[in-house]
Amino acid sequence: MNKVIDEGIKNINRYESKPNLTKNDIKKAIDHVLAKIDQNLDKYTNKFPTASSKDLVYGELDNVDWTASFFTGMLWLAYEVTEDEKYKNVAKIHIQSFKERLEKRIQLDHHDLGFLYTLSCVSSYKITGDEESKEIALEAAKLLASRYYDKAEIIQAWGDLSDPTQRGRMIIDCNMNLPLLYWASDVTGDSSYKDMATKHIAQASKYLIREDASSFHTYYMDTKTGEPLYGNTKQGYSDDSCWARGQAWGIYGFPLSYSYIKDWNLIELTKKVTNYYLNRLPEDSICYWDLIFTEKDNEERDSSAAAIAVCGLLELIKYLPVTDEYYEYYKNASQMMLKSLITDYTTDINSDANGLLLHGVYYKGGDCGVDESCIFGDYYYFEALVRAYKDWNKYW
Ligand code: GLY
Repeated sequence: MNKVIDEGIKNINRYESKPNLTKNDIKKAIDHVLAKIDQNLDKYTNKFPTASSKDLVYGELDNVDWTASFFTGMLWLAYEVTEDEKYKNVAKIHIQSFKERLEKRIQLDHHDLGFLYTLSCVSSYKITGDEESKEIALEAAKLLASRYYDKAEIIQAWGDLSDPTQRGRMIIDCNMNLPLLYWASDVTGDSSYKDMATKHIAQASKYLIREDASSFHTYYMDTKTGEPLYGNTKQGYSDDSCWARGQAWGIYGFPLSYSYIKDWNLIELTKKVTNYYLNRLPEDSICYWDLIFTEKDNEERDSSAAAIAVCGLLELIKYLPVTDEYYEYYKNASQMMLKSLITDYTTDINSDANGLLLHGVYYKGGDCGVDESCIFGDYYYFEALVRAYKDWNKYW
């Protein structure tokens, strides 16, 4: 592990008091989510929402993008909250689509097998015990494991493994894909998946996190020698800035690895990564799309990063002793962000908007989904609400 500095929390006063967010507020927000899901249920039974909306309306796609599982994950959350079979029935149709996608290898040359098969099939197996879902998810884990390089000890993020432009590239988002591998070891007893994930998260800690606790979006390793090469960005503002959603993937993903391998270094690192993030939030606690920006800049927020960060903080504090110097601040920060999302960042229930969160940014540099709803933001918003509402067993 390299040496990463802890900035501490600079504006600590703002996190000293607990925001007023009642169980009833959360229940009302969940009802809003359920109403939006109901509005979308027919449309997304045999199709999937696009990654981001256009003029606040998601399009329809076949099961081809890395984001296809987020609506399925929302269906499982809805089923858990309501026990209404209609959500499970549509999720089961989705599972067959994920099965076919895997059999036909439709657009699966990337590490997002984790997102795709955790939220569709692992969740299904965990909630219902369905054996077919388990088998599909295990096949997906095998395919994900085939992207691992022994020498570099990383899982390659994007592209065919023969593509020289992508060879040896790991990205911070992969933190969220590793749970599929840990889970596969747990259910099969084959430790090789867990070994790969454990080695990958160590490399991610060492190279994706910079000395000041900010993150590179992506980092190249030499797959022949195992030597580190260089970091750069894809979706952030610049190679040396800190893409907000990347930092949020760090806040959530490191504690998820901790939950499986119990390496305390991961928690220590998460605290530093979290403090860097908290220190760069504007007044309403919802980050700009890159943490380089401040109130002076005329830049968009990224509500999706905020929703991911809330889930990450709630996961992190599960492992912190209440006596930890940051415990209360993190708890309050998560509630402040959630309250801000509920109050100022949700779509109008009576509008044509079919997403949940306003003001997300998918890929600013590609001019794609800027100041729109993002389906992953919607999923994590719902997960954050469910986490705040009840005891919840994670799908990850
Ligand atoms: N994993 C890609 C993204 O966060 O946009």
